[in-house]
Amino acid sequence: MLLKDKVAIVTGASRGLGQAMAVDFAREGAKVVLCASSIENLKETEAQIKSLPNTNCILTQANVSIGDEVCEVVKKALDTFGKVDILVNNAGTTRDNLVALMSEQEWDDVLATNLKSVFLFTKACARPMIRQRSGSIINISSVIGITGNAGQANYAASKAGMIAFTKSMAKELAKRNIRVNAIAPGFIKTRMTDKLPDELKQKVLGQIALGRFGEPKEISDVAVFLASENSRYMTGQVLVVDGGLVI
Ligand SMILES: NC(=O)c1ccc[n+]([C@@H]2O[C@H](COP(=O)([O-])OP(=O)(O)OC[C@H]3O[C@@H](n4cnc5c(N)ncnc54)[C@H](O)[C@@H]3O)[C@@H](O)[C@H]2O)c1
Repeated sequence: MLLKDKVAIVTGASRGLGQAMAVDFAREGAKVVLCASSIENLKETEAQIKSLPNTNCILTQANVSIGDEVCEVVKKALDTFGKVDILVNNAGTTRDNLVALMSEQEWDDVLATNLKSVFLFTKACARPMIRQRSGSIINISSVIGITGNAGQANYAASKAGMIAFTKSMAKELAKRNIRVNAIAPGFIKTRMTDKLPDELKQKVLGQIALGRFGEPKEISDVAVFLASENSRYMTGQVLVVDGGLVI
């Protein structure tokens, strides 16, 4: 098992990529702190984890863009398990619109959920990780943060911001043996991509070298690698996992 006895916080763990990562971390031996905006939404992830032998998880609720609620999640993790080894900043949202039509609210919501949350969770986890002189932080960015996308300027800016934050934190925390890396997924089959129009899906499909959309498991496999000792000489990196969408 690659994550035996590690403690991992996974935000946005109720479905999609967050659910896949939480379940795979548990399968690899980690005790998992599931976080979502409602406890009820975490029941399915909890059931999947409980169906695996010798697993342990707790359920926490937070709006990831509110500092006090984030601190409560990290406190609960420390009170229950005594440490935090792995943080996955995965919770994310979209409010797509052309900038000429985009409301201030649409901009603020996306930046707060996708980027401010990463600052809040990293700050809250940095202290215990510095104390224990180890940690792995994984930020789930997007290829859109590298390429940009018409109609997604708020999302693209938030995901590009995550990449710059990842590199800055890697430099800030390396001396304390805390590694910070990002994953930039391409088009993965989740509720976030389900809602896109069929015409757009077909267009994107035509641009993916491997000729298919990704599965959440194909992101969680990479997250397990980044969380584990197998990636011990990697920090400040952005791993693009997109089937060759952006080459
Ligand atoms: N699916 C893809 O193709 C894809 C591609 C690139 C990047 N990503 C990124 O991966 C991450 C997960 O995406 P997904 O496809 O699984 O999306 P999803 O919509 O299925 O899941 C998003 C998760 O984030 C949680 N969340 C959203 N806002 C929150 C808030 N304010 N507080 C707490 N939790 C909140 C949701 O409850 C949910 O658990 C996101 O950051 C997304 O931007 C996804």
